[in-house]
Amino acid sequence: MRNESTAVEDKKIAHMLTKVKNRLLVFSGKGGVGKSTVAVNLALALSREGRKVGLLDADIHGPDLAKMLGVEDRQLEHSGAQLFPLEINENLKLVSMALLMSSPGVPIIWRGPMKMKVIQQFLGDVQWGELDWLICDSPPGTGDEPLSIAQLIPAAAAVIVTTPQDVSILDSRKAVSFAQKLNLNILGIIENMSGFVCPHCGEKTELFKKGGGEQVARELGIPFLGGIPMDPRIVESGDNGRPFIGEQAGSEASEAFTAIVERIRS
Ligand SMILES: Nc1ncnc2c1ncn2[C@@H]1O[C@H](COP(=O)(O)OP(=O)(O)OP(=O)(O)O)[C@@H](O)[C@H]1O
Ligand SMILES: [Mg+2]
Repeated sequence: MRNESTAVEDKKIAHMLTKVKNRLLVFSGKGGVGKSTVAVNLALALSREGRKVGLLDADIHGPDLAKMLGVEDRQLEHSGAQLFPLEINENLKLVSMALLMSSPGVPIIWRGPMKMKVIQQFLGDVQWGELDWLICDSPPGTGDEPLSIAQLIPAAAAVIVTTPQDVSILDSRKAVSFAQKLNLNILGIIENMSGFVCPHCGEKTELFKKGGGEQVARELGIPFLGGIPMDPRIVESGDNGRPFIGEQAGSEASEAFTAIVERIRS
């Protein structure tokens, strides 16, 4: 019985994925390094170029993307078993657990199989339509959840986000090897919080060191996609639901991010 229902889900997901040109997983070996910030800004940047983008928040316990896009008080609409993604702009659609919860502050206490069921529904039951990009923001680490997500979205590309501290770099090595084992097409590493730009004088300080992401990319023979400096305005824009690429066009972080988007796109 269970296998039958899994086969039905698999079929629905396979059908959904036939309408998606590019699938991209954003993940990291460690939490809090900026995955969601990267996912949301990348999705918005591509949508503004006219690409049809679906943004899937696969972080069930910490679904931050709705807040980062300023839509945390909205809900997904549904009709029978069909779910409809929330339209952020004419080219960008979002699906997140946060859009199914009536009280955002309440933690979700679920065991693995239930979480997987939700992600399966987010892929198979959501009416995404034709997409140029499906961007999936993963929960942190290389445990069961990111593993299951990577298995649900076969032949995906992956972007690994790290910060420059040794502890994060160490975990990124694990993340790269995880992606390789799963046969993901690794587009490269992004070093986030790479230096600090003073919002007042513009001077750059290497708060957490710098260059570790580039070094690990070189060592492991994968592309380095670029560094994004630490900028307090990024925290503000994330908290206020206004992604920084639009809000702070022209800032060093925004320019660095635009160059990264170009590398991912090409
Ligand atoms: N370059 C940056 N400069 C300053 N703050 C940043 C930068 N990148 C991300 N942040 C902030 O750091 C915090 C963590 O970022 P984010 O939520 O994107 O990380 P995450 O890897 O998705 O975390 P989690 O593993 O918990 O899902 C957020 O408050 C975000 O605004
Ligand atoms: Mg996150």
